[in-house]
Amino acid sequence: MSGMTFEPLSGVCFGARVSGVKLADMDADSFRAFYDQWLEYGLLVVGGQFLDRGQQVAFAKRFGDLEFDIAEIGNMRKDGTLRPDDGSDDMMKINRGNMGWHHDSTYMPVQAKGAVFTAEIVPQEGGATGFADMRHAYDALDDAMKARIEGLRCHHSLYHSQAKVGHQAAPVKDSSVNPDDNSGKTYGGYGFHEGPVSVRPLVKVHPETGRRNLLVGRHAYDIIGMASDESEKLLQELVDFACQPPRIYHHDWEAGDVVIWDNRRLMHQATPWPFTQARRMWHSRIAGSPETEAALAA
Ligand SMILES: [Fe+2]
Repeated sequence: MSGMTFEPLSGVCFGARVSGVKLADMDADSFRAFYDQWLEYGLLVVGGQFLDRGQQVAFAKRFGDLEFDIAEIGNMRKDGTLRPDDGSDDMMKINRGNMGWHHDSTYMPVQAKGAVFTAEIVPQEGGATGFADMRHAYDALDDAMKARIEGLRCHHSLYHSQAKVGHQAAPVKDSSVNPDDNSGKTYGGYGFHEGPVSVRPLVKVHPETGRRNLLVGRHAYDIIGMASDESEKLLQELVDFACQPPRIYHHDWEAGDVVIWDNRRLMHQATPWPFTQARRMWHSRIAGSPETEAALAA
């Protein structure tokens, strides 16, 4: 039997650090236990794994089908040179946008289930990833706010969230995160789709735990039936309330770390680092179930 242990992160109401496990070499019983703890904690941190890309994709697939197998996140080009932060590189604009709190792929027809995120090269300073427990946030709302937001729905769009950081993007067909080397693009355009704008509830019922959580963040705007400025004020108020101790944890990365989060429950954010320093991370996105994660009709 495995000697896997789960130590709750200190000072926060979610998340655990796992030790005594090699993720690349886990038997079915251990994975079942790991998955149950993942649902319980929402976020698992496992150090010293140094998964290669094939191992990462294989591990991520144990959680379900993947929305995309693996994408490089950071400020390095494939040739190892650094991307300029002068407005000419769309990946850097995506990096800036990702510093706002969000759930992944709420702008897609199907919201992501979760992600396996690993660190290959970390900067000497900065570059932590923040996580916020939107289940605890919902539970902490007062009854009047719970009643106010019950049944409300809003739009989610990557065009909207990127425009707020000065990135005006056009629709892209057959998009990727990392473009082909010879495409001439710096970001593949993932998320800039031509489909209908996703509409989602502000209060989500988790499909596996049955618990309620807030579903807001940078992609969310224009609550249906509400004036735009009133909607923006309410959505911001909810994010400001939610993303406070003890509901937030910022992970300072070490090379070889693996983090797996439940994207139905948690929000996350990138944080700045000196863009003169290299950062190379790998993101495998676990697909949400269409039965529970599909956007609603407007
Ligand atoms: Fe993200």
